[in-house]
Amino acid sequence: MRRIILIGYMGSGKTTVGKALAAELGMRFYDLDWYIEGRMRQTIAQIFSERGEEGFRKVEHNLLHELAEFEDILISCGGGTPCFFDNIDYLNQQGDTLYLKAAPEVLYKHLKMGKTIRPLLLNKTPEEVQHFISEQLQIREPFYQKARYMLDVSLMDNYEKINITVAKARQLLGV
Ligand code: S3P
Repeated sequence: MRRIILIGYMGSGKTTVGKALAAELGMRFYDLDWYIEGRMRQTIAQIFSERGEEGFRKVEHNLLHELAEFEDILISCGGGTPCFFDNIDYLNQQGDTLYLKAAPEVLYKHLKMGKTIRPLLLNKTPEEVQHFISEQLQIREPFYQKARYMLDVSLMDNYEKINITVAKARQLLGV
Protein backbone atom coordinates (compact mmCIF):
# COMPACT_ATOMS: atom_id res chain seq x y z
CA MET A 1 0.00 0.00 0.00
CA ARG A 2 1.33 3.36 -0.93
CA ARG A 3 0.13 6.93 -0.55
CA ILE A 4 1.87 9.90 -2.12
CA ILE A 5 0.95 13.34 -0.82
CA LEU A 6 1.93 16.58 -2.55
CA ILE A 7 2.13 19.81 -0.60
CA GLY A 8 3.29 23.31 -1.47
CA TYR A 9 2.08 26.86 -1.96
CA MET A 10 -0.77 27.83 -4.29
CA GLY A 11 0.57 27.72 -7.84
CA SER A 12 3.44 25.34 -7.09
CA GLY A 13 1.97 22.81 -9.54
CA LYS A 14 0.60 20.25 -7.07
CA THR A 15 -2.45 19.43 -9.18
CA THR A 16 -0.66 19.50 -12.53
CA VAL A 17 2.26 17.40 -11.36
CA GLY A 18 0.05 15.18 -9.21
CA LYS A 19 -2.27 14.27 -12.06
CA ALA A 20 0.60 13.43 -14.42
CA LEU A 21 2.51 11.50 -11.76
CA ALA A 22 -0.56 9.48 -10.77
CA ALA A 23 -1.27 8.67 -14.43
CA GLU A 24 2.29 7.39 -14.94
CA LEU A 25 2.15 5.29 -11.78
CA GLY A 26 -1.38 4.02 -12.41
CA MET A 27 -2.53 5.44 -9.09
CA ARG A 28 -5.82 7.16 -8.35
CA PHE A 29 -5.50 10.92 -8.11
CA TYR A 30 -7.37 13.09 -5.65
CA ASP A 31 -7.16 16.84 -5.25
CA LEU A 32 -8.22 17.70 -1.70
CA ASP A 33 -9.96 20.93 -2.80
CA TRP A 34 -12.03 19.00 -5.35
CA TYR A 35 -12.82 16.32 -2.80
CA ILE A 36 -14.04 19.02 -0.37
CA GLU A 37 -16.17 20.61 -3.10
CA GLY A 38 -17.75 17.26 -3.94
CA ARG A 39 -18.46 16.31 -0.33
CA MET A 40 -19.78 19.75 0.62
CA ARG A 41 -21.58 20.37 -2.70
CA GLN A 42 -20.11 23.86 -2.58
CA THR A 43 -17.13 25.52 -4.21
CA ILE A 44 -14.10 26.46 -2.10
CA ALA A 45 -15.02 30.11 -2.71
CA GLN A 46 -18.55 29.52 -1.35
CA ILE A 47 -17.22 27.74 1.74
CA PHE A 48 -14.84 30.66 2.42
CA SER A 49 -17.58 33.26 2.01
CA GLU A 50 -20.11 31.36 4.17
CA ARG A 51 -17.81 30.15 6.95
CA GLY A 52 -14.75 32.38 6.71
CA GLU A 53 -11.23 31.00 6.56
CA GLU A 54 -11.52 29.49 10.04
CA GLY A 55 -14.60 27.53 9.05
CA PHE A 56 -12.93 26.38 5.85
CA ARG A 57 -9.90 25.10 7.79
CA LYS A 58 -12.13 22.95 10.00
CA VAL A 59 -13.88 21.45 6.99
CA GLU A 60 -10.50 20.92 5.30
CA HIS A 61 -9.11 19.22 8.41
CA ASN A 62 -12.09 16.89 8.77
CA LEU A 63 -12.22 15.89 5.13
CA LEU A 64 -8.45 15.44 4.96
CA HIS A 65 -8.86 12.75 7.61
CA GLU A 66 -11.46 11.07 5.42
CA LEU A 67 -9.51 11.26 2.16
CA ALA A 68 -6.10 10.32 3.53
CA GLU A 69 -7.46 6.98 4.78
CA PHE A 70 -8.01 5.79 1.20
CA GLU A 71 -5.33 3.37 0.04
CA ASP A 72 -3.02 3.53 -2.96
CA ILE A 73 -3.82 7.09 -3.90
CA LEU A 74 -1.97 10.24 -4.76
CA ILE A 75 -3.31 13.31 -2.99
CA SER A 76 -2.68 16.90 -3.91
CA CYS A 77 -3.37 19.10 -0.86
CA GLY A 78 -4.47 22.73 -0.72
CA GLY A 79 -1.69 25.26 -0.20
CA GLY A 80 -2.69 25.86 3.41
CA THR A 81 -3.47 22.27 4.37
CA PRO A 82 -0.13 21.41 6.08
CA CYS A 83 -0.09 24.70 7.99
CA PHE A 84 -3.13 24.23 10.24
CA PHE A 85 -3.83 21.98 13.23
CA ASP A 86 -1.49 18.99 13.27
CA ASN A 87 -2.16 18.31 9.60
CA ILE A 88 1.48 18.04 8.54
CA ASP A 89 2.23 15.40 11.18
CA TYR A 90 -0.86 13.48 10.15
CA LEU A 91 0.16 13.69 6.48
CA ASN A 92 3.64 12.39 7.30
CA GLN A 93 2.04 9.47 9.11
CA GLN A 94 -0.28 8.68 6.24
CA GLY A 95 2.16 8.68 3.35
CA ASP A 96 5.19 9.94 1.48
CA THR A 97 4.93 13.70 1.58
CA LEU A 98 6.60 15.69 -1.17
CA TYR A 99 6.99 19.47 -0.98
CA LEU A 100 7.00 21.20 -4.36
CA LYS A 101 9.11 24.25 -3.65
CA ALA A 102 8.93 27.19 -6.02
CA ALA A 103 10.22 30.75 -5.90
CA PRO A 104 7.62 33.51 -5.39
CA GLU A 105 8.03 34.69 -9.03
CA VAL A 106 7.30 31.18 -10.31
CA LEU A 107 4.26 30.85 -8.06
CA TYR A 108 2.97 34.18 -9.28
CA LYS A 109 3.39 33.23 -12.94
CA HIS A 110 1.67 29.85 -12.43
CA LEU A 111 -1.20 31.53 -10.60
CA LYS A 112 -1.63 34.03 -13.43
CA MET A 113 -1.76 31.16 -15.96
CA GLY A 114 -4.41 29.22 -14.00
CA LYS A 115 -8.20 29.61 -13.96
CA THR A 116 -8.85 28.52 -10.37
CA ILE A 117 -10.49 31.09 -8.10
CA ARG A 118 -8.37 31.52 -4.97
CA PRO A 119 -10.33 33.31 -2.24
CA LEU A 120 -7.14 34.43 -0.50
CA LEU A 121 -5.99 36.31 -3.61
CA LEU A 122 -9.28 37.95 -4.57
CA ASN A 123 -9.52 41.75 -4.75
CA LYS A 124 -5.76 42.23 -4.72
CA THR A 125 -3.70 44.12 -7.29
CA PRO A 126 -0.84 42.21 -8.97
CA GLU A 127 1.62 43.99 -6.66
CA GLU A 128 -0.42 43.09 -3.59
CA VAL A 129 -0.62 39.45 -4.71
CA GLN A 130 3.17 39.27 -5.14
CA HIS A 131 3.74 40.84 -1.74
CA PHE A 132 1.18 38.50 -0.13
CA ILE A 133 2.86 35.42 -1.66
CA SER A 134 6.31 36.38 -0.35
CA GLU A 135 5.01 37.16 3.13
CA GLN A 136 2.83 34.09 3.46
CA LEU A 137 5.50 31.80 2.07
CA GLN A 138 7.83 32.77 4.91
CA ILE A 139 5.17 31.85 7.45
CA ARG A 140 4.33 28.58 5.74
CA GLU A 141 7.83 27.42 4.83
CA PRO A 142 8.53 25.76 8.23
CA PHE A 143 5.44 23.58 7.78
CA TYR A 144 6.32 22.68 4.19
CA GLN A 145 9.85 21.85 5.28
CA LYS A 146 8.49 19.05 7.42
CA ALA A 147 7.68 17.03 4.29
CA ARG A 148 9.71 13.85 3.84
CA TYR A 149 10.88 14.88 0.36
CA MET A 150 11.43 18.23 -1.31
CA LEU A 151 11.68 19.11 -4.98
CA ASP A 152 12.64 22.49 -6.39
CA VAL A 153 10.32 23.35 -9.23
CA SER A 154 10.88 26.01 -11.83
CA LEU A 155 8.39 27.50 -14.29
CA MET A 156 6.22 24.83 -15.93
CA ASP A 157 4.65 26.52 -18.92
CA ASN A 158 4.65 23.53 -21.27
CA TYR A 159 4.23 19.76 -21.18
CA GLU A 160 7.92 19.05 -21.54
CA LYS A 161 8.71 21.00 -18.39
CA ILE A 162 5.89 19.27 -16.52
CA ASN A 163 7.28 15.89 -17.61
CA ILE A 164 10.75 16.81 -16.39
CA THR A 165 9.33 17.68 -12.96
CA VAL A 166 7.37 14.41 -12.89
CA ALA A 167 10.53 12.43 -13.75
CA LYS A 168 12.43 14.18 -10.94
CA ALA A 169 9.61 13.46 -8.50
CA ARG A 170 9.67 9.76 -9.44
CA GLN A 171 13.41 9.59 -8.91
CA LEU A 172 13.14 11.25 -5.53
CA LEU A 173 10.27 9.03 -4.39
CA GLY A 174 11.86 5.92 -5.87
CA VAL A 175 8.77 4.99 -7.88
C1 S3P B 1 -5.37 27.79 -0.14
C2 S3P B 1 -5.07 27.10 -1.26
C3 S3P B 1 -6.09 26.55 -2.17
C4 S3P B 1 -7.40 26.28 -1.43
C5 S3P B 1 -7.84 27.50 -0.70
C6 S3P B 1 -6.78 28.00 0.31
C7 S3P B 1 -4.27 28.32 0.72
O1 S3P B 1 -5.58 25.35 -2.76
O2 S3P B 1 -7.29 25.20 -0.55
O3 S3P B 1 -8.11 28.49 -1.65
O4 S3P B 1 -4.52 28.67 1.88
O5 S3P B 1 -3.11 28.35 0.23
P1 S3P B 1 -4.47 25.36 -3.95
O6 S3P B 1 -3.11 25.40 -3.32
O7 S3P B 1 -4.74 24.07 -4.64
O8 S3P B 1 -4.74 26.55 -4.79
